[in-house]
Amino acid sequence: MKQTFFISAITLLLGMGQCAMADGDIAAGKAKAVTCAGCHGPDGNGTDNPAWPKLASQHPAYIVKQLRDFKARETRKDPIMSDQAAQLSEQDMLDLAAYFSRQKIKIGTADDNLAEHGGNVYRTRITTDSGNTINACIDCHGRVGAGKKNKNYPRLAGQNAAYIAKALRDFRSGRRSNDNGKVMRMIASHLSDDDIDAVASYIQGMGNYSRFVWPVYIIALLIMVANLVSPSRQEKQIIRNLKRKQRRESRGMQ
Ligand code: HEC
Ligand code: HEC
Repeated sequence: MKQTFFISAITLLLGMGQCAMADGDIAAGKAKAVTCAGCHGPDGNGTDNPAWPKLASQHPAYIVKQLRDFKARETRKDPIMSDQAAQLSEQDMLDLAAYFSRQKIKIGTADDNLAEHGGNVYRTRITTDSGNTINACIDCHGRVGAGKKNKNYPRLAGQNAAYIAKALRDFRSGRRSNDNGKVMRMIASHLSDDDIDAVASYIQGMGNYSRFVWPVYIIALLIMVANLVSPSRQEKQIIRNLKRKQRRESRGMQ
């Protein structure tokens, strides 16, 4: 009985693994991505044009949704991307999404003059004139800008600032309206041009920890040196025992 249960559990797990794989084929996606490489880069990390977004590390379901939306030309239209998406079948979209989502994003850097205000925009909830509070970017896109896969909140961290700023302006003007429940259009309507440029720059540098690397090395070194210099608990015990023995011996000699 137990064994049957065990076997069915394994079959179920294997089945689930297969379902996940049936979503998209990474190798097929890599071959199909040749068409996209000129603008999005061979590994989805973009090219010199910052208006062409990075696709690397983006959640696969979000990529598929955008491609479907571009193809439908209703709520998200773009002269370049709608033509690109028109050539793609459902399976192409799944394969491309599987490939690009598995590539590692290369994070950009933020403009120091904008990052502070940008960070505040990212973290602070907005209070509207009628006294309602609106979620902050951080509530949906996350502390490190990784988004939420299960809710289809896109990853933002490391994306080109120029593209992020354009996306926010498109939501604000309603040119892009593929956000369910109007969440992004509502939020963007409360952002000024300065807010948009600052938060876009902040997002471009999110997850760039290079400036923290040196202090971390120095702290690690200090801890190591402190460990070398100060005796461990075991060593302290041995020293105490030796001293006690010495005292006993010197008493015995008197
Ligand atoms: C000639 C340049 C070009 C080519 C080729 C191209 N794209 Fe794009 N892509 C763009 C531009 C520009 C945008 C941004 C459109 C906008 O501003 O809304 C974009 C946006 C996207 C987005 C939305 C990203 C996001 O974060 O919402 C996805 C997904 C995408 N492209 C996938 C692809 C795939 C897959 C291919 C290949 C089949 C491809 N693109 C080929 C220029 C290109
Ligand atoms: C209530 C949740 C929520 C909040 C709060 C939120 N977002 Fe979003 N955001 C979304 C969702 C959902 C999408 C995807 C819409 C779609 O399906 O195309 C999105 C999309 C975006 C995009 C487009 C990404 C791309 O690759 O094209 C940007 C940029 C963005 N959000 C920035 C922000 C900023 C900046 C804030 C804060 C000022 C913010 N968001 C607050 C849910 C949220």
